[in-house]
Amino acid sequence: MTFDDAHWDERYREAELLWSAAPNLFVADRLADVPAGRALDLAAGEGRNAIWLAKEGWTVTAVDFSAVAVERGRNLAERREIRLVWVEDDVTRWDPDGELFDLVLIAYLHLGPEVVESLVQQSWSWLAPGGRLFLVGHAKQNLKEGYGGPPDLERLWDPDELVALVPGEPSVVEAEVVERPVVTEEETATALDAVVHLVKGEDP
Ligand SMILES: C[S@@+](CC[C@H](N)C(=O)[O-])C[C@H]1O[C@@H](n2cnc3c(N)ncnc32)[C@H](O)[C@@H]1O
Repeated sequence: MTFDDAHWDERYREAELLWSAAPNLFVADRLADVPAGRALDLAAGEGRNAIWLAKEGWTVTAVDFSAVAVERGRNLAERREIRLVWVEDDVTRWDPDGELFDLVLIAYLHLGPEVVESLVQQSWSWLAPGGRLFLVGHAKQNLKEGYGGPPDLERLWDPDELVALVPGEPSVVEAEVVERPVVTEEETATALDAVVHLVKGEDP
């Protein structure tokens, strides 16, 4: 089951900040040394990753269909005087109108397999030569062995299956299931995430 923008608006309204102010662990760790360029964050939520990228010097476009999340992200960025472009739209319909990016990031967007396939392929086509596709989300193993995440297997990610969706022969920097510590009020649990980091060849 996937959810519409009204569902996500409701979830965001229920919390002052639904996700963290800090970027995702793997985004910050794996992309810290990548030279800044043009970045696209699809399903950016409140912008924890988009804002971090912009702070690192990237020129960032952040897209999400939740008006509440986009408004919150815009306010958070403005308060810190960080500039980025916010787009309130459905990532399955939006397209960048010919603009190319050096990084496309998709973090914890768990849609059905057909949608993921076309989104990954479109994202790849929006990369400039040498650009990177960085995907991080709940891994299939998380269903039985990890903390949190969607409760249905078909929306969870397998790193090799994601790599196989990309046309041509991408250079694979990372395609792994990795552990992410999650600190709750009761415990420190472990979530299992799929991390996929691919680089597009320089040849057209
Ligand atoms: C789990 S949150 C992750 C947010 C962000 N990527 C992060 O890591 O903090 C999933 C986000 O996907 C957005 N979303 C889900 N389906 C979408 C769609 N079809 N188009 C745009 N945004 C979508 C939701 O509004 C929500 O902000």
